[in-house]
Amino acid sequence: MAKINTAVLQKMKQQAEKITMLTAYDASFAKLFAEQGVEILLVGDSLGMVLQGHSDTLPVTINDIAYHTRSVRAGAADAFVIADMPFMSYGTLEQTLQNVMPLMQAGANMVKLEGGEFLLPTIKALTERGVPVCGHLGLTPQSVHVFGGFKVQGKSNEQADSILTQAQALQAAGIQLLVLECIPTALAKRITDALTIPVIGIGAGNVTDGQVLVMHDIMGISSGYIPKFSKNYLQQTGEIRSAISTFVSEVKSGIFPAAEHSFN
Ligand code: KIV
Ligand code: NA
Repeated sequence: MAKINTAVLQKMKQQAEKITMLTAYDASFAKLFAEQGVEILLVGDSLGMVLQGHSDTLPVTINDIAYHTRSVRAGAADAFVIADMPFMSYGTLEQTLQNVMPLMQAGANMVKLEGGEFLLPTIKALTERGVPVCGHLGLTPQSVHVFGGFKVQGKSNEQADSILTQAQALQAAGIQLLVLECIPTALAKRITDALTIPVIGIGAGNVTDGQVLVMHDIMGISSGYIPKFSKNYLQQTGEIRSAISTFVSEVKSGIFPAAEHSFN
């Protein structure tokens, strides 16, 4: 696989080639995912839930993300790695500039921040200083207490218009990739069509430029709550490498996500 960078991702959108992304937190899985053709590895703050066992992502620290980013980078030297900025690590511009350093030095190619309007100066400042930024709109899990639970976002016309406006503002400020989480498929389509940068969905239908899943969900090892938008590829294939390559091919061909994994 050709080495992935922001220019390659941009070209994939233009050529309508779907982008695949999985969370990864350690060297062994990072290597395996990269070998199966997954284009982007996300060191997500979901690790607070799937690795640390918390009920949300709020307890995760910059040191946690830096540690796992180093592990992922060690396992997959050529992978395109995105590191999540954890809760309150980008509350102010000054904090942000301090906190991105350990993540980029750990081997990240890009950082991801949750939110809209308030991030515009931060995105501009990071990009100007050489740090590519991925946005994240819709169900932004760090705001779970504001939402009153992990709920689909953008269901009313007013909310939908607001998310679209925020997406356009983030792009204008300089983000080079956008994650949309748990929004109706029709809204994901409007945003994907309106933006020139690649849009990656999770629970946003098969209309986005790519798909991301949490690796534990793809293997069906998250106990208890299994999100509607996820698919257990290990059960379907019986083997971890086939599970990942099947995820990749089903995203590329548009089979995944199906209507049953999406919100209307
Ligand atoms: O932390 C994470 O795993 C994420 C994805 C769900 C997009 O942010
Ligand atoms: Na995250």
